[in-house]
Amino acid sequence: MRLAQAGPALPVRFLPVKRGSVVSDSIERIDFPEHENPVTVFSGPGAIGQAAGLLADLGAQRVMIVCGQTVAGLPAAKALADSAKANGAVRVFDQVEPDPSDVTCAAGGTAARDFGAEAIVGIGGGSSMDAAKAIAAEAIQAGWTQSQDNPGQPTEVDFEPLPTILIPTTAGTASEVTPFSVIIYTETKRKLVLSHPKLYAKYALLDPELLSTCSPQVRMAAGMDALTHAIESYVSKQATEQTRRRALEAIRMLAPHLVRAVEAPGDMAAQQQVQEGAMIAGLAFSKSRLGIVHAMALPLSALFQVPHGVANALLLPYGMRFNAEAAAPLYADIAEACGIEISGLTASQAAITLIEHVEQLGRAIGAPTRMAEVGVEEAAIPQMAQDAMPSAHIACNPRTPGMDDLIELYTEAY
Ligand SMILES: [Fe+2]
Repeated sequence: MRLAQAGPALPVRFLPVKRGSVVSDSIERIDFPEHENPVTVFSGPGAIGQAAGLLADLGAQRVMIVCGQTVAGLPAAKALADSAKANGAVRVFDQVEPDPSDVTCAAGGTAARDFGAEAIVGIGGGSSMDAAKAIAAEAIQAGWTQSQDNPGQPTEVDFEPLPTILIPTTAGTASEVTPFSVIIYTETKRKLVLSHPKLYAKYALLDPELLSTCSPQVRMAAGMDALTHAIESYVSKQATEQTRRRALEAIRMLAPHLVRAVEAPGDMAAQQQVQEGAMIAGLAFSKSRLGIVHAMALPLSALFQVPHGVANALLLPYGMRFNAEAAAPLYADIAEACGIEISGLTASQAAITLIEHVEQLGRAIGAPTRMAEVGVEEAAIPQMAQDAMPSAHIACNPRTPGMDDLIELYTEAY
């Protein structure tokens, strides 16, 4: 796939990413228009090998790698540390847990300062990349993460964090190209999305070979999360022409390749399509925000530790059915992007056809279809509805739900 440079006159169906130089036979450098996203991406098998050169370009001789313990044990992570040592010294901070806490980020910041780190490399899933962004800030200003425990207030960063390189090992959250860092505040028990342009990474290395290190279940959850990002972004009330272009582009890459990417870890072409599709969905949703599915997924994770992608995979068809009439023409566009034949159908019929297609896709890759399957308790439904309702994603949803709607949807999904 080769894409042309962005431009305002391009029709919606053309999906522009400014491709820069070809770095090698397999790796491309991708730069986005500056106003859209400042992260420079290197994509292709072996892209992780770019890290040492980029760190040298940044003038970073002391580098801290941020990851979880599982990823720290991967040969790819060890090779990354070894290659970065060529520039100077490397410290590995491998204490990132699923859903990183303010305490972990503060500890990472202390480790980075004690070590004298000049750059941060985050490798792993969304949690490690989110933690890396916070640690890059915390390294410069001790106590920064804690100081951002202000729900409803904008994130403040009035200094320059350490430069960051992010290397995803899953294709889902797109944290590598978003300005978001999701942090659990241990004392107040809040899960907040910090967001600031200074949290953007400098570089993202998309290496599809890393996706084959995950289990099929993780690839399913991440891929369905990415598909949910693209679908919710496309129908968001805050969508723009640009975010819609990106969302459709992402759907075209994700939908036809998801089954293969889950089933065949060695199929690098499928892994790369899904990895780039997830990243491009990130370009879209970081501007448009999301919708009812993400709002309803949050309490499943907060109360019952259902992984984020699993919660989205489960709830996506229910949320889409709720939106079916309000977003019918937009769902028809998505159906087309998925390659579904919709000629002769009304927009409403096309929307229903799309929802059935999404359900089949989920079933094909082992997504759960009922909350009862993933350990959610029915008695918690009123609480979950109450927790989901204030989510900012609700305001972006094409149809505004009330409490009764959320309770009904959760009950249906139970
Ligand atoms: Fe998500």
